[in-house]
Amino acid sequence: MKIAIIGAGNVGGTLGAAWARKAGHEILFGARDPRAEKTQALVQQIGGKARAVSPADAAASGDFIVLTTPWPAAEVAIRSLGNISGKILLDATNPLAMGPDGLGLEIGHSISAGEKVQGWARGASVFKTLNTTGFGNMADPVFNGVKSVMFVAGDDAANKPKVIDLVASLGFDVIDAGPLRNARLLEAHAMLWIELSLKRGLGRDWAFARLRR
Ligand SMILES: NC(=O)c1ccc[n+]([C@@H]2O[C@H](COP(=O)([O-])OP(=O)(O)OC[C@H]3O[C@@H](n4cnc5c(N)ncnc54)[C@H](OP(=O)(O)O)[C@@H]3O)[C@@H](O)[C@H]2O)c1
Repeated sequence: MKIAIIGAGNVGGTLGAAWARKAGHEILFGARDPRAEKTQALVQQIGGKARAVSPADAAASGDFIVLTTPWPAAEVAIRSLGNISGKILLDATNPLAMGPDGLGLEIGHSISAGEKVQGWARGASVFKTLNTTGFGNMADPVFNGVKSVMFVAGDDAANKPKVIDLVASLGFDVIDAGPLRNARLLEAHAMLWIELSLKRGLGRDWAFARLRR
């Protein structure tokens, strides 16, 4: 599979390296400056499976598009992709902003970043996923033999199994979290992970998992 990753930072770089190494996928980083030193260093580190190109070129050839830009850049980044009608887009963003109580969700509860992304990504099938844990856990989601959990929310039932498989190939225990509007829940869940990690002393090296009886 060809995966277009828009944004080659902490999340994008980690996902690209992990998909290339664990699943043999071809990675196209869609970068504003594909020749930037840090982007080329990332491409070199991943090896022959990765390239950096313009966001529009990456999106045009990707079987999947994965959005990993900061939230304030998301709309511009999506518009820079051109026509992505019919494409599958995984949205990993969290709509974070500083407020009077510190870092929080800029929007949420009655709307979500995932739904906003769907509004900008006309004709694409948007899935909210890969937003509820830190990028370090995306590289290594297994803790002492137990898979940490990752959710997938989206409305396109026909393509959802492909997205679940793609996320599972990273090593996550993937749960179908329902329709895209449930991105409202997943973005709040991400905020809980961030709060516990950064403010409540848990650090970044832990994750949520599913227990069943
Ligand atoms: N960090 C985490 O652990 C984590 C976990 C889950 C979800 N998230 C979410 O994932 C997103 C990315 O987080 P991050 O930590 O990876 O951020 P980051 O390290 O700052 O990386 C963001 C990347 O987006 C690129 N970018 C910005 N505007 C762009 C545009 N218009 N077109 C293409 N690329 C653009 C930046 O490239 P330039 O070099 O051009 O600026 C950079 O490579 C955020 O929405 C965050 O909330 C983060």
